[in-house]
Amino acid sequence: MPLLETVGLSKSFDGLRAISNLDVDIEAGSIHGLIGPNGSGKSTFFNLVTGVYQPDPGSKIFFDGHDITRSPSHQIGALGIARTFQLLRLFSEMTVLQNVMVGYHTHVPYGFLSTIFNNSAIIKKDAETTDEMMELLEFIGLADYAGMPASELSGGQRRLLSLGRAMAMRPKLLMLDEPAAGLSPVNVENLLAIVMSLKERFGLTVLIVEHILKVVMETCDTVTVLDYGEKIGEGTPEEVKDDHAVIEAYLGQEMDDDEVRATFDS
Ligand SMILES: Nc1ncnc2c1ncn2[C@@H]1O[C@H](COP(=O)(O)OP(=O)(O)OP(=O)(O)O)[C@@H](O)[C@H]1O
Ligand SMILES: [Mg+2]
Repeated sequence: MPLLETVGLSKSFDGLRAISNLDVDIEAGSIHGLIGPNGSGKSTFFNLVTGVYQPDPGSKIFFDGHDITRSPSHQIGALGIARTFQLLRLFSEMTVLQNVMVGYHTHVPYGFLSTIFNNSAIIKKDAETTDEMMELLEFIGLADYAGMPASELSGGQRRLLSLGRAMAMRPKLLMLDEPAAGLSPVNVENLLAIVMSLKERFGLTVLIVEHILKVVMETCDTVTVLDYGEKIGEGTPEEVKDDHAVIEAYLGQEMDDDEVRATFDS
């Protein structure tokens, strides 16, 4: 049984079908890539799975044996799905450590931001979890910055922090929306290495949206290709690479074999 399964998943915005009748299976323990042109529905898929948007009638989403089609976000988080955002949503005035604590508090069942500052029982609990969160920061290479406001981090460090905040929820499924956007090649390699080691260490399943095709081809076990909200291809990176319909839709032009190869290898 797949860890995440969508059946006939659809979402319309004022008549525009952002996701159309989508069946996707994400196997436990895999790294699954989701690719497609701008506006093809990738982030909408994330928002549907995490309960940010309500899907259209007839849609079904199952996670780890639960029907989460209409579940609220916090419940979906508690069941074990965490995600990062395409546009990072860090709390820039808060420290690095406080930002990962927010991830932790999203997981545990009491209030949200207010608890970080002024509930003494919670503060005691925070003290107990601080060690665990520091360990996580160590793992992603941000321990030295724990007390620094997030606003002072570099772009690459912010991406890592957003990953750390998602990991603080102790997810089974980690969903990454363009985690490498804007990173230099060295930072992309570093981030991927961290994702891979997190996956091994915590037995994660990973769903990754990424425009850098080289990243997708090198890291994913399975790739699903969207175009105008529909699945137009799926398979191993090799299979997807060889699918001309996919490539041409993805890049909006006809190409010969060499050009297709060059696109994926660069
Ligand atoms: N809240 C919303 N209200 C109206 N339309 C929306 C909303 N969210 C997404 N859309 C539309 O749904 C379509 C899919 O958008 P989505 O953000 O999912 O694409 P994407 O594949 O993530 O694109 P990108 O690669 O640019 O991030 C687009 O046409 C977009 O304008
Ligand atoms: Mg997007």
